[in-house]
Amino acid sequence: MSWAIKLKAGAVDIYCLSGTGNTLLVARAMRDAFVQKGILAHVHPMERTDPCSINPKNALGLAFPVAILTTYPLVWGFIRSLPEVKGTEAFMVDTLGGLSMGIMAPMKRILESKGYAPIGAREIAMPVNFWNYEQEKKCVTIERGLERAREYTVDLIAGGTKWRSFPVLSDMAHLAFSNRFLWWLARQWPKMRVSLERCARCGLCVKLCPAGNIVMKDYPERQGGCQVCLRCYAYCPREAVLFMESFKRYRAVSAEDFLIA
Ligand SMILES: Cc1cc2nc3c(=O)[nH]c(=O)nc-3n(C[C@H](O)[C@H](O)[C@H](O)COP(=O)(O)O)c2cc1C
Repeated sequence: MSWAIKLKAGAVDIYCLSGTGNTLLVARAMRDAFVQKGILAHVHPMERTDPCSINPKNALGLAFPVAILTTYPLVWGFIRSLPEVKGTEAFMVDTLGGLSMGIMAPMKRILESKGYAPIGAREIAMPVNFWNYEQEKKCVTIERGLERAREYTVDLIAGGTKWRSFPVLSDMAHLAFSNRFLWWLARQWPKMRVSLERCARCGLCVKLCPAGNIVMKDYPERQGGCQVCLRCYAYCPREAVLFMESFKRYRAVSAEDFLIA
């Protein structure tokens, strides 16, 4: 790969949604790799960004986890609300345990319809965020993922990437897995609950929820917009958020990383 810079934009904004930290680590590794090559780059929390406020002069990066073979409704909402532009370069990176289907083609189409120039899409394997891992295996998978993220960044800068997609398969999977009914079902079973014995009413879950879906009443209460990102489940300091017995609490970064990001 040649080192000549083919990226047209002089700066990059990466909008990142991450439930339990894998994607945030990847987005930060990419930011650092851009900066190392002399390109100004920032990571912004997608959940706290008004999509209309993006700077169309900067390349647009989208970073998010795969969920139920597609990604979270919040991510689709962000992308659908992006403003129209004239040729702003756009790239995506997702993190996943192993398989995605319904993302690449529909996302590329939405961006193109708004005038973006899709320049790259890559999927990066990271630990599945509800399984139990030996610490060593988790670290090796993360390190490998971050290395791939850095390589991807270098490829993006050098113009060596493409946004590949397989429209028929990807569109069908998008229809099947991004529909409201499926996500409504995903929120019903198994429903997350709060253990009143364990909950100290510290409010961390309210602050951390990327969808603003938890309201503090006598105890934290969930509203109807849960993304099933597992952040509240993973980060509750007293493990008071209950979900599936077999799901482990996985954290790739600290809670503060989400609050300051
Ligand atoms: C509700 C849910 C659904 C998931 N679905 C998939 C999936 O369909 N395919 C896959 O490869 N990984 C899946 N995963 C695993 C995550 O994509 C993966 O662990 C990701 O790196 C998590 O990123 P985050 O830590 O930034 O949230 C799922 C995780 C959750 C919580």
